[in-house]
Amino acid sequence: MRIGSELSRKDGRLKVTGSATYTADTQVPGLHYAVFATSAVASATIEALDTSGAERAPGVVYVMTHHNAPRLRPPAPGFGSMTFLPLQSDQIRYEGQPIALIVADSLERAMHAASLVRPSYAVRPAQMSMLERFGPDADAAVFDTLETVTQGYDEPDTRTGDPDAALGSAPVSLSRRYTMGFRHHNPMEPSATIASWDGDRLTLYDTTQHVWGVRSVVAEALGLAADDVRVVSLFLGGGFGCKGFVWPHEILTALAAREARRPVKLVLTRSQMYAACGYQSATVHDVALGASRDGRLVAVAHDVVYANAVPEAFPEYAAAGTRTVYACPAIATRHRVVKLNTIQPTAMRAPNEGMGNFALESAMDELAYELGMDPLELRLRNYAERDPTTGKPYSSKKLREAYHLGAERFGWSRRAPHPRAVRDGNDLVGYGMATALMTTYRFPSAARVRMRADGSVVVESGTQEIGTGVRTIMPQIAADRLGIDPQHVEIVLGDTTLPEAGGTFGSSSTMGVGSAVADAATKLRLAILRTAIADKASPLYEARLEDLEVHPDGAVTPRGSPTRRDAYAAVVARSGREAIEAEGSWAPGGDVLGTGDYAMYTFGAVFVDVRVEADFGITRVARCVGAYSAGRIINPKTARSQMTGGMIWGIGQALLEQSETDAELGRFVSKNLAGYLVPANADVGALEAYFVDEVDPHASPLGAKGIGELGATGVAAAIANAVYHATGVRVRDLPIRPELLLG
Ligand code: MOS
Repeated sequence: MRIGSELSRKDGRLKVTGSATYTADTQVPGLHYAVFATSAVASATIEALDTSGAERAPGVVYVMTHHNAPRLRPPAPGFGSMTFLPLQSDQIRYEGQPIALIVADSLERAMHAASLVRPSYAVRPAQMSMLERFGPDADAAVFDTLETVTQGYDEPDTRTGDPDAALGSAPVSLSRRYTMGFRHHNPMEPSATIASWDGDRLTLYDTTQHVWGVRSVVAEALGLAADDVRVVSLFLGGGFGCKGFVWPHEILTALAAREARRPVKLVLTRSQMYAACGYQSATVHDVALGASRDGRLVAVAHDVVYANAVPEAFPEYAAAGTRTVYACPAIATRHRVVKLNTIQPTAMRAPNEGMGNFALESAMDELAYELGMDPLELRLRNYAERDPTTGKPYSSKKLREAYHLGAERFGWSRRAPHPRAVRDGNDLVGYGMATALMTTYRFPSAARVRMRADGSVVVESGTQEIGTGVRTIMPQIAADRLGIDPQHVEIVLGDTTLPEAGGTFGSSSTMGVGSAVADAATKLRLAILRTAIADKASPLYEARLEDLEVHPDGAVTPRGSPTRRDAYAAVVARSGREAIEAEGSWAPGGDVLGTGDYAMYTFGAVFVDVRVEADFGITRVARCVGAYSAGRIINPKTARSQMTGGMIWGIGQALLEQSETDAELGRFVSKNLAGYLVPANADVGALEAYFVDEVDPHASPLGAKGIGELGATGVAAAIANAVYHATGVRVRDLPIRPELLLG
């Protein structure tokens, strides 16, 4: 079971039998329960806050409000947390903002007490409208009045060549506006934090995609040394980005446990999740394309408007992907923000491309019909051999192979050239395709691998398992480097007492953590051989390392004979040590994204077959085929699962998901899984994922790239394009609701 084999998930049984320990399952003696009372208004000053009822309620041991909460050091602006913290002043900036935190001896008593908190507010008008102001009919000039936000490592606006002039003189051009609604991540597991103090030392059990980020932000906010904070996150029931940053409830739970002098558990309710850990902004995309009659792009322009919270600056460049997808001499992208009374938005499965890809790939489809050209042919005609904005070569790219593989597996050649040409009973049948694309994010990571005298191996790294397969592929990578069976390798993760690793976001873990594990396992193999060589009783004593190989029975022969776990275990046993271990690490070099002389992305081609019920306008995805160019695949089984999961995510984005807002009240209104639709089994047809053979030597020493978010791109556009092919109706506003398809 080496790299490239289909190892089944090591944590599958634990999860389906309910034995995996999620944060809220953690047992801590003397645990008390925290519940937030939250603001019903979105913008206000708290004039009075009566907590007397809550304080007298049975079981209550502590009530924290802005009157008595110790002052925290607000986190610095930038990636990773909010600068505005609730319970620190009388200011309300978003509906759902905590106004009091109750600690009681049972959850029910804490909930009851929270219901007794009586606020009165001086309410200000809330700003919550986004699509209403900047949607399909808004004047484009309003764009120039908006501010921009900078990521720091990349520019919000880029311009290559002269797109305005090229658009003006292009033989064929189009200019379209696309919009997408607000969305929430809705992981199955709501966020939870357990805070337990031992003197001045804090342990947090937390639902987080980045235990190290929580450690540093919480330590900073509470004025602690980072070493005095331990953060543990053993399993995550999804996250999709909403557990990537550090949110106020994590800091406030730590503070409440200190003030209440008891270990405290806080679990957000489903509805609180809509105002506690980010969301994906609604976006407005203006895309203009210019092309020659034979379909060569001469101009691409993509402007985006997205939301930020009133006091916060979260930069998301939805048009970043547009800078690289197609060969074109003139490309311009711009990003502007609108300030809303919400919690800070955050990345959601496929930062940047998850939003922008829909707009660009819809526009490409519209251009194909304008030209009377096959949409796949249009993509191939504009295939970029180098990054068109920076001129850099791609670190690896086999997108052409992916287009062909996907088209062949799907049967794209059967596509009827004209829309509304195929019926199946009462269904209108349509085919659509789109290019998938994702930026490569990589983070420095470290790992330790240890072999015990009984031959068992442990991988240790402070990474997280969000459901992607980290618990499966990291042992697989270590086993590959050690030349042993991965069934003997276990992993310990999700704890800041382990070697530091990057966050579980940006589809980065295989590259960062995987390369660190490979490095550690390679070093362990050498350490075992060195131990054998240094053993005076051993026939290996002072032999040259590279000439030798250890046999299962401990015998030594010249290199070339197979290594075995038993041979290594025998060396460990004879050394008199409990275990032999080695540390490994890996960090990307180059600039801030670490890509140096290369443009680094993953790619894919997505093809879908949709059926639109003619009388009711209900769209079903009968089949989705994705073919991906994404570096070396460590475990095809878990990898396919990532891609099909991404496709389901794309079905939700295209057809179902939207957080409804009430602009007057300044709030999200559909704060549950009845009002917010996500795909169920009946919404999902046949899904197929394929990978082209590829190794990217620049992305990571493993030759691997990231895949978790790539699969979530391309799908929504392919569905919208297929809906057009089926019905002749072009929907530019997601989600595609039935009423938009009824003539
Ligand atoms: Mo992801 S949205 O980079 O957790």
